[in-house]
Amino acid sequence: MRSIRVKAASADYPVFVQPGLLARLANHIRLSCGEQQAVFVITSPEIWALWGEAFQASFVAKNVDVITLFVPAGERHKRLATVEHLAEQLSRAGAKRDGLLVALGGGVIGDMAGFLAAIYMRGIRYVQVPTTYLAQIDSSLGGKTGVNLRVGKNLLGSFHHPVAVFTDPRILSTLPPRELRAGLVESVKAAVLGDLRFFTWLERNLDKLLAGDEKVLTQAIETSVRIKAEIVSADERESGQRMLLNLGHTVGHAIEAATHYSTLLHGEAVAWGMLAAVQLAAARSALSAKEAARIEELIFRLGPFPRFRASAKKLLEHTSADKKHLQNAHRFVLPTTIGLATVIEDVSQEELLVAIQSMLRVVRERGV
Ligand SMILES: NC(=O)c1ccc[n+]([C@@H]2O[C@H](COP(=O)([O-])OP(=O)(O)OC[C@H]3O[C@@H](n4cnc5c(N)ncnc54)[C@H](O)[C@@H]3O)[C@@H](O)[C@H]2O)c1
Ligand SMILES: [Zn+2]
Repeated sequence: MRSIRVKAASADYPVFVQPGLLARLANHIRLSCGEQQAVFVITSPEIWALWGEAFQASFVAKNVDVITLFVPAGERHKRLATVEHLAEQLSRAGAKRDGLLVALGGGVIGDMAGFLAAIYMRGIRYVQVPTTYLAQIDSSLGGKTGVNLRVGKNLLGSFHHPVAVFTDPRILSTLPPRELRAGLVESVKAAVLGDLRFFTWLERNLDKLLAGDEKVLTQAIETSVRIKAEIVSADERESGQRMLLNLGHTVGHAIEAATHYSTLLHGEAVAWGMLAAVQLAAARSALSAKEAARIEELIFRLGPFPRFRASAKKLLEHTSADKKHLQNAHRFVLPTTIGLATVIEDVSQEELLVAIQSMLRVVRERGV
């Protein structure tokens, strides 16, 4: 089976993308991770109800025990307390240092299971079986794991890469359309920062993607994974190039924080955040008006996205709390042409405020 490799300084592993992979998962795990007597699956009751039977079948056929550990769905459960609870369960279920965890779920479950694997008995192996579009193209690879604190998202964590990522686009057949649209925003982001051809391909294939066409979804996932894998391979710890993946996220994170993570999905906030980044780039003449319009148009086709209540000033304050803030100037990912972005360090408060204000006008006009 073909795979895309992440070759980071501390880990080298494959990402397999194939429709129907779930039906042969036990075999693939044996090939990538060796013979197992049991696997410990971290998932949610909702995902297990949809995909548990299909998941279990290949393991039963190979006489591998499947031990399931459940976490409730939702970002609010991405907490250290949940990880501790899982660790107790894991220990009671007999997991030793050579145990293998399987994260079956979206980014919330993947981040938590990865963190649990990073700290359980000082680190055990895990694989990702991502079930949302966002998790398939983004959170399942790259090795960032962690949980939230009350004061901020992902503030407790660790770098711990999976042994392999097994992505089955067919699993997306049960994903709510809103989640798919939000996830696709991150593919548009990947295209804008790194791949003009992919951008043009997305323009051509967006309707099929939104309709859940498996073949087209598989292609979009593969290309998005390849873009992220290349960036992560070059800069595992986000000292340079990996920052590019934060395109649209400075303002996106501010919107999420200002709305207490309750109104918008992450990808939806990033969509608005990318519009702010495009406005800022166009105002600097770093990006042509024509290209800015093309990016905006593709983002609008993924929407309409929800409106939200937050003043420009409030959002600006939240960008300052963002990890990417440097004293008075802001670090910012600037799209310079479709397929290329650059990290700049000199965005002033005033300049960012203007971009946020024009984004808010678009939110009023185009949001729902
Ligand atoms: N580690 C990283 O590099 C990284 C990158 C991006 C995002 N993240 C994290 O990812 C999280 C968001 O992940 P997400 O968008 O996948 O959200 P999520 O994990 O909350 O999943 C979204 C919803 O979809 C449901 N769901 C999942 N798979 C389904 C399926 N196949 N069918 C039907 N329903 C399904 C879930 O139960 C949940 O209700 C955030 O916590 C974010 O911080 C991490
Ligand atoms: Zn994101």
